[in-house]
Order: sequence, then C-alpha cells, then structure tokens
Amino acid sequence: YLIDKGNHRHFMEKEIHEQPEAISHALSHYVDFLAHTVRPVAADIDFAKVPSLAITACGTAYLAGLVGKYWFERYARLPVEIDVASEFRYREIPLNPASAALFISQSGETADTLASLRYCKEQGLKIGAVVNAKESSIARESDAVFPILAGPEIGVASTKTFTCQLSVLAALAIGAGRARGTLGTAEEKELVRHLAEMPRIMASVLNTIQPAIEQLSRDLSKCKDVLYLGRGTSYPLAMEGALKLKEISYIHAEGYAAGELKHGPIALIDENMPVIVIAPHDRFFEKTVSNMQEVAARGGRIIFITDEKGAAASKLPTMATIVLPNVDEIIAPMIYSLPIQLLAYHTAVFMGTDVDQPRNLAKSVTVE
Ligand code: G6P
Repeated sequence: YLIDKGNHRHFMEKEIHEQPEAISHALSHYVDFLAHTVRPVAADIDFAKVPSLAITACGTAYLAGLVGKYWFERYARLPVEIDVASEFRYREIPLNPASAALFISQSGETADTLASLRYCKEQGLKIGAVVNAKESSIARESDAVFPILAGPEIGVASTKTFTCQLSVLAALAIGAGRARGTLGTAEEKELVRHLAEMPRIMASVLNTIQPAIEQLSRDLSKCKDVLYLGRGTSYPLAMEGALKLKEISYIHAEGYAAGELKHGPIALIDENMPVIVIAPHDRFFEKTVSNMQEVAARGGRIIFITDEKGAAASKLPTMATIVLPNVDEIIAPMIYSLPIQLLAYHTAVFMGTDVDQPRNLAKSVTVE
C-alpha cells in the first residue's frame, strides 16, 4: 500500500475504491477459497464452548460489531451483549467468566475500548481483538488477535476498515456456527461462496453507481437533515450512513430502525428532509416498504437503496432509487456500505468540506 492519493482527489475516495482488493486480502486469511470453508481460528477462543459473547467498540467499529451481533446470533446461535465502549466500561456488567469478549478497533488504541478490554479481562473472560494495527495496545493485551488486514487508512472517516471488519466478523460467525454445530457443511460452503464473490460484486458496483450517486449528492448537499432507515443488518448500516454523512458533510443525519419510525422520527417528515431507505429484497423487505409508505403518505421524499428485485417490487414514488445487484444476506452489509460511503463522500465534496480531515474529529481517540 502506497501512502499517496494515486489518481484520487482524497484518501477517502481512494480507500473506498480499495475495498474489493482489501477485502480479498482480509478474507484470504480466514477463508479457504478453494474448499469454500472457513479456516480454523486461534484456539484461545473456543466458540463451540462459550455461552455468550460480549462485543465492544466505538464509532464505526461499534456499528460493525452491531452487524456482527446479528450474524453470531443467527448463524452460531450465540447470544451477544454489545455496547459502545464508553458505556460498557462503567456499567458494572455482570459477565460470565466462561464467555469471550471481542474488541473491534481500527487503531487498537481507543482509550474506552482498551478500558473495556481490561474490565473483561479482570472478570476472567477470553479476549479477542479485531484490529487493523496488529502491534497496538488492544492487540497486545488480547488472547487472540483477528487482524482485518485493510492496510493503512488515512481518511478520518472509516471506509475500508469498516467493510474489512465486517468481512472478518462474517467469517468468524460462520466459523463459530460450524464449531457449534448450528451451520451444516453445505450451509457453510454456500455462505463462504457468497463471501468469495463479494470483491468482484463490489468492484462492479463501484464501476456503475457513481453517476447516480453524484447526481443525488448535489441535492443532498442542499439539505439540513437526513434520516436513514433500515431493518435487520440494514439498521446498523442506516446508522453508519448517518454517521458518515454527519462526519464529513456536517449535515445533521440520524439512523433509525425502520420499525421505530412511528415512535418518533415520523413527526419530522416533510418535503425538506430526505429519508434514505436501505432495503435489500430480504426477509424484512415488505416491512420496510410499509414504513416507506408511511413516509410517502406524509409528503416525505424517499431515496431508496435496494436491489433489482426490490426496485421491481416497489411502486412507490421516490426522489431517487439506487439499484444494486441481488446479493445474499450475508454480504449485503458490505455491498450496501458502498452507496452510503459514496453518498457521504460526494455530498461533502459538493459542500467543499475537508473530507479527509473533518473539523473536530481525530482518526484515533486515545483519551477518554
Ligand atoms: C474515531 C474515528 C472513527 C472510529 C472511532 C473508533 O472516532 O474518527 O472513524 O470509528 O474513533 O476508532 P478505532 O480505532 O477504535 O476503530
């Protein structure tokens, strides 16, 4: 990895485009692409035996962990306790010493995450670190290190490290499912086959969605508030979309579970606040579409991020529809990361902000 922008205007743009390659690299560490199986991971954490898992992180890494929770619970039937590290460290959580804890951190130096790790260690849990910096404090103090192998990330707003964290968590959850007997060999192969296809799909999405995103970003750059909605693993994605947008464009944005719309944010709906709906044609699609209907009925403008099946299935009028290929649920969070990253990026470019060094933010937060 060269530390220059290459042909890109910003490191963030370069890092967005590096994702297919970075993910291939990360996955090859965890997955046997020929056998379509997950490689055995560090023996220090025995996913077959642990009664539960605690996941802790900050910022974008926390949102990767939240997607991971859905995966560990669904594929490995492993209950997951997750919180942001600044809360986790002080909650005096009664933890089971037979459990394991995972700490997700790009830098491996985030103060709150490290403090949470030490709390879990004192309670006797096995510690795993999902980190980019293998020589970091969090990696050093862990029993097992799961590197995300994303290479250096210069842009303050995480992009490739988020999707590499997701890819590693997906592989770990599949491996845990196999170890716990909740995933059969055929299911494992099928899931790994989808992971293996992901870099190619990402590259083709990056090649095709840019013009539509740029056009949309021009409109978004005139807005004051944006709401993101999603269900299932698209819920953490909605929060990540909102986080990316506010970090670099300074537009106020919120990410909500689509089902919570009626419990508050629906009061804000008007023609001035676009609602970005992240809805692949999955198990949750019909439910999310009914939330979209509630938005449309109140004059809200919808930006619909979906797949070919979803676009064909919904007849609701939208401000814009971004159509992605139909993909399996396990890779949807990584694929849907691309439009939300690009939307934030191009909106910030239109607004003329300092994309790689947004005001008041630091790449690594080593103080409390
Ligand atoms: C800062 C960065 C975020 C990052 C978070 C956690 O807020 O700006 O991009 O997600 O810290 O950092 P870590 O290094 O622990 O992943």
